Amino acid sequence: MTTDSRRRALIDTDPGIDDALALLLAWGSPEWTVEVVTVVAGNAPLEACARNVFRLLDLRRPLPAPLVATGAARPLARPLRTAAYHGGDGLGDLPDWPPVEPRVTSVDAPGVIVEAATRYGGSLTIVALGPLTNLALAVERDAAAIRGAGRVVAMGGAVDVPGNVTPDAEFNAHVDPEALARVLDAGVRLDLVPLDATRQVTLEPAALQSALARAPAPFADRVRRVVEYALRMDLAHGRRGMDLHDPLAVGVALDPTLVRWEPVRLAVGPGGQTRRAAGEPNARFAHVVDTPRFLSMFLERLCPAC
Ligand code: BDR
Ligand code: CA
Repeated sequence: MTTDSRRRALIDTDPGIDDALALLLAWGSPEWTVEVVTVVAGNAPLEACARNVFRLLDLRRPLPAPLVATGAARPLARPLRTAAYHGGDGLGDLPDWPPVEPRVTSVDAPGVIVEAATRYGGSLTIVALGPLTNLALAVERDAAAIRGAGRVVAMGGAVDVPGNVTPDAEFNAHVDPEALARVLDAGVRLDLVPLDATRQVTLEPAALQSALARAPAPFADRVRRVVEYALRMDLAHGRRGMDLHDPLAVGVALDPTLVRWEPVRLAVGPGGQTRRAAGEPNARFAHVVDTPRFLSMFLERLCPAC
């Protein structure tokens, strides 16, 4: 496949262990050129999330290498809340990462998002894997440009299911509810991938092991140790494995037929609740997942071959 026949992607992310798996899936997908990665504070502070993007780039070395821009260090209207599940550094606190050279091309992620949407228009898919702060700021600058992108897919929310950080809110929505509300209000055709869908895709330890067996040892070892940090917590809570929240968002951005979509009007509560409301739909959300098809896509594409 030539670069020109591939679709273009911009990924906004806060790595994050499942963000890391989502980036590896995106970089292993032949349909896409990931042109840009923009970084937002969420699972960890902005600087740590940016460092993690470079760690992952050095580990996987996708070609062409994406531009990396940093953005919002805190939510629009409240202090940042980070997630202990991913470790203090966002990737499970491994002590032996090789040092990275930060190669940030811009510190204005919202501007970079607008620029990419303007340049690539309908051939660009924007995938947001963290709190929607950068995207909301991009919409504020040029909503028409963002509306002109081919698709905008975001992991976040809990529509008909309980939350994961409070009884009724999901992490990304809870960290920056004002940003999610702003994006929903802007008339962007948002494809939301909430916990309703992501709880249907669980990575079990044995499946991860067999996918990693096909990869070069240093890569496999690093990914296994990062994922084990989160998996340990899941298994200790009696779960079968780790839910692939952000990888599913990348999966449905690549192939929307992996899920059943429902148009919905959502109102965002002050704690990040995503409640059904009366009126015209302002998004569609993923709710029934073809789990086996997604998991085989994910496991096949996660690793470079030996
Ligand atoms: C979302 O919250 C984060 O901790 C994950 O990276 C994912 O984006 C799941 O609720
Ligand atoms: Ca994330």
